[in-house]
Amino acid sequence: MLQNFEPTLTYAQQKDREDELKEFRSRFYFPRHQDREVIYFCGNSLGLQPKPAAEQIQQELEDWRRMAIEGYWKAKTPWMTYPQSFRPALSRIVGGLEEEITVMNALTVNLQLLMLSFYRPQPGRYKILVEAGAFPSDQYSVETQVRLHGYQPKDAIVEVAPRPGERIIRDEDILNAIDHHKDSLSLVLIGGLNYYTGQVFDMAAITAAAHKAGAYAGFDLAHAVGNAPLRLHDWDVDFAVWCSYKYLNAGPGAAAGAFIHEKHARNQQLIRLGGWWGNDESSRFQMEKGFVPKPTAEGWSMSTAQVFNMAALKASLAVFEEAGIERLQAKSRQLTAWLRFLLQSLTNLSFEIITPEEPHRHAAQLSLFFENRGKAILDKMMEAGIVVDLRVPDVIRVAPAPLYNSFEDVFRFYQILQQMQ
Ligand SMILES: Cc1ncc(COP(=O)(O)O)c(C=O)c1O
Repeated sequence: MLQNFEPTLTYAQQKDREDELKEFRSRFYFPRHQDREVIYFCGNSLGLQPKPAAEQIQQELEDWRRMAIEGYWKAKTPWMTYPQSFRPALSRIVGGLEEEITVMNALTVNLQLLMLSFYRPQPGRYKILVEAGAFPSDQYSVETQVRLHGYQPKDAIVEVAPRPGERIIRDEDILNAIDHHKDSLSLVLIGGLNYYTGQVFDMAAITAAAHKAGAYAGFDLAHAVGNAPLRLHDWDVDFAVWCSYKYLNAGPGAAAGAFIHEKHARNQQLIRLGGWWGNDESSRFQMEKGFVPKPTAEGWSMSTAQVFNMAALKASLAVFEEAGIERLQAKSRQLTAWLRFLLQSLTNLSFEIITPEEPHRHAAQLSLFFENRGKAILDKMMEAGIVVDLRVPDVIRVAPAPLYNSFEDVFRFYQILQQMQ
């Protein structure tokens, strides 16, 4: 694939003309820098605002103004079942059945909530296996869950790290560690796409190994959702959580998502914390004692749907549906391969692309390691109108998003880097 690329602007523009998703760029607002749109490669942190988001939020405001309480039943998208309106699009994006998916709360909250169900340590089987260098919120979640159950993090948390001299964690090392701890493992929790390295883990194999060891498998998909190919149901994943503000473009702090495999959702014996929104709708308003969880992922929701925090997601997922997740992923593979091809030809800057190259081991993001120069290079990029971010130590994350980035964006980025020292 790489060898067919040509490092010219004409070639980039030709690729853009051939891109069947090119029109989608105009559906998003780009910030400006010195009278020009920025080169926005930060959709892995915060996706751009889809233009229809304002209209969707306006719709909810109008329904509230005109209908007040009746909006729960009569709004254009009735608020009573608002999270259900996301299921078709999200089920295609994460590869889950519709009833396995819900939208609620925020990412870390959902991670903690689902660990209450899926981390049920017993004497002798109490360990959680995680990737070393997991996102801090995940590390804090695991640490505090372990303490909640009276264990010590040092003993109960098993971290799998890259081998000495390597930057990427090998899937085989995770599988071997699961096997090694098979008698004491309760949960395997992995960031499906690591936020720092950009590597995608083999979630199917990790899930199978966890199950073989008698443990549950859960994934934080913050960086994978709307980005990497996911088949959560077929992989038999027990649970997964994600946020909606990165590749899903639903705005800062937008309501987050969760997947719970149907076999668990239907299992009324599985402990979950109750709230009236997780109660079966048929008895929700009977105000009786006795929590009857819905036999779906919604059985984990507790509170009234936060409609204003979900409206932009609705607008954004409509754009995703039109573009099609498979077409997006096909474009993404091309865009990121193009980015890698151009970066590899730079001779003026010294850095390492730490994200693995094989297509199934990465998605949109490439992580560039600039030893001891991360901040200095980032500042130069920002001055030149490039929006990317830095994660310590010294990694600049560059993530062209196939919905709104073009081959020309990538080429302009490369041209700016060509001028740097
Ligand atoms: C991998 C990962 N996990 C968890 C979080 C925390 O998400 P939130 O603040 O929405 O709970 C983030 C935020 O960027 C993240 O990237």
